Parts: sequence; C-alpha cells; structure tokens
Amino acid sequence: MGTMDQDILKVLYTEKQIAARIEAMGAEMYRDLEGKDPLFISVLRGAFIFMADIVRACPVKSDVEFIAVSSYGNATSSSGAVQITHDIQQDITGRNLVVIEDILDSGNTLYFLKQYFLTKGAASVAVCTLLDKPSRRAKAITADYVGFQVPDEFVVGYGLDYCQKYRNLPYIGVLKPEVYGGA
Ligand code: PRP
Repeated sequence: MGTMDQDILKVLYTEKQIAARIEAMGAEMYRDLEGKDPLFISVLRGAFIFMADIVRACPVKSDVEFIAVSSYGNATSSSGAVQITHDIQQDITGRNLVVIEDILDSGNTLYFLKQYFLTKGAASVAVCTLLDKPSRRAKAITADYVGFQVPDEFVVGYGLDYCQKYRNLPYIGVLKPEVYGGA
C-alpha cells in the first residue's frame, strides 16, 4: 500500500479487471487489424500505460508512435482548444491508424486528432479508448474499441492524473472530492 491510496474514494477497476478487459480488447482488435499493418498512436501522457498493455495484447505486425496534445492544463475539464505539443515522426499517408487513448471525455481531443490525421492522408483512423464517459460528450465522436464506460466521476490511476499525480496507481479509482477541492 502506498500513500496515494488514501486519496482514493473507491476503486472502480482493479488491476486484474483492467488486465482481463485489455486481453479481450486486444483479441477483438487483432481480428480486425491482422494484415493491415496498423500504426498505433498513443496520446501522451495519459495513455502511456494503456498503450504498453494494449499493443502486447494485440500481437499484430505494427508500429508505434506518440503524439502529445494539451487542452486541460491542470483544470479538471476541457477548455476545448487542442494544441499539438509533440507531433508524430513519420509520414502516415495511406496508413491504418489506431489512436490509443486513456479516456474519451468531451471528445475534443479525439475529434481534433481524427481530423488532423485524416488531413495528413491516413487511410483510416480507428479509436481505442480504455475509458469512455459518454455523458460528457461535446463533440460527435465514438470510439471503435472501448474498455469500460465510466460515470461522470473524477477518475485517476493507470495513466490518468490529477495535477500530474496518481498516474502510477495500478488500478483506476475515484479521487476523494476534498483532494481536488470538490467538497
Ligand atoms: C486527457 C486524456 C485525453 C483527454 C480526453 O488528457 O488523456 O487525451 O483528456 O478528454 P476530452 O475527450 O475532453 O478531450 P489530458 O489533457 O488530461 O492530458 P494527459 O493525457 O497528459 O493526462
């Protein structure tokens, strides 16, 4: 037990539940992507842990890229404006992309990224997100692969942060409101 645990109100998904879900998602993605030479693009920073697990659960011949965007700063909800702070390093013309996200919330980030990659000539852009919060959607976007649908609560762990902390919790939990000034 680490000291981060005391800031957690409740555990939503244990390490074991996450691993089991990712194994199933990886198998489903493998059936769709085998032979398509996909390029997995992880959105930093939140998706870095999920990326590492999902690409190993989907053993298709593929390559990986990383893109970093900023929209939230240290706030708990999206401002809507998305900026690329680190771009991918290769030509994606004609490639079948799978964008790997930790959470699909307002949809601003993925809506922007999907357009961006299509403009750059991608043949297809699929979206894979571990968590989906459809109740907060502001843009018309859905994911092709979803790990879990989550309620509108402040979730951290397994890559997800609050003020850059808690990313290294092995499970996904709800933060106590007093930690983020919500109570
Ligand atoms: C989170 C998450 C997504 C985005 C989703 O990133 O990783 O990229 O927000 O929210 P949206 O659907 O409302 O756009 P954040 O900006 O918190 O940065 P991080 O990945 O570094 O945690």
